[in-house]
Amino acid sequence: MDKQNVRFTLITGASSGIGKAMAFECAAMGRNLLLVALDEPALPATVEDIRGRYGVTIGHLGIDLSREDSPEKVFRWVQEMGYRVDTLINNAGFGRGGLFENVNLQEYYSMIQLNNQAMIGLCYYFLPELRKHSRAYILNMSSMEATLPLPYKAVYTGTKNFVYSFSLALREELRRTNVSVSVICPGPVLTNPDGLERIKAHGGRAKLLLAMPEDVARIAIRGMLKGKQVIVPGFVPLAIIRIMKFMPTPVKMRILERVFRVYK
Ligand SMILES: NC(=O)c1ccc[n+]([C@@H]2O[C@H](COP(=O)([O-])OP(=O)(O)OC[C@H]3O[C@@H](n4cnc5c(N)ncnc54)[C@H](OP(=O)(O)O)[C@@H]3O)[C@@H](O)[C@H]2O)c1
Repeated sequence: MDKQNVRFTLITGASSGIGKAMAFECAAMGRNLLLVALDEPALPATVEDIRGRYGVTIGHLGIDLSREDSPEKVFRWVQEMGYRVDTLINNAGFGRGGLFENVNLQEYYSMIQLNNQAMIGLCYYFLPELRKHSRAYILNMSSMEATLPLPYKAVYTGTKNFVYSFSLALREELRRTNVSVSVICPGPVLTNPDGLERIKAHGGRAKLLLAMPEDVARIAIRGMLKGKQVIVPGFVPLAIIRIMKFMPTPVKMRILERVFRVYK
């Protein structure tokens, strides 16, 4: 393989959920993949799954992205392997609900490290490489919650708001370059058991918003390749974001507190 002419899409958190679905979506389009996730059996299993169905080249790295030096290690690995990356998808992330003071402080720090610092680090390290291609893409995973400060998910909401603002700002900085930056803001997606419990807690209301990872992945990758600024999968999440935007903040916050009290 002449590595200089082969382009790769790097996806973090690619061993399950939305990240895995995006990896399948990219492979179906013939895109070669570099998959990064925790060093767990799910990662090589995903690689084998994709290899069995699509004839694309796949590299993978098991690493804990909530460690400060991980973005640099990912970059060095890509360099050492001689891979050329033209698409960076910062998907890995997690959230935790509950009264702010009841969650372990270290867990908040890990969340900020994974949801925010790893994303910044990877954008920072890979930007010079992305700039070398005729067209390149960054897709950052935010959430519908980025625009809605959610009581009982205060830190998670804050991290996703950060992803949202950072992505819009970076996009504008890069507007006259070859690099397109998009941010995706999904509503609830049926992925891990934790999320399933949260969705159950909301009863029928949540079902209106619920999306499947495969649908979100399809909309995400197509939106990214079209150079969309903000990608919101689904009509209901988009409608809620728009309605909430015009609501006075005190009213909006009172409503959100009532709806999300179940996480308390
Ligand atoms: N699900 C939703 O309702 C929803 C809605 C809006 C936004 N999002 C966002 O979408 C993204 C993916 O969510 P998901 O529900 O698909 O999550 P998920 O099913 O829990 O998958 C998370 C992925 O990230 C990897 N990961 C977790 N911690 C990591 C770490 N410290 N270092 C490296 N990789 C790590 C996991 O690897 P392992 O499998 O090996 O643990 C897995 O591949 C997150 O950023 C989330 O905030 C989710």
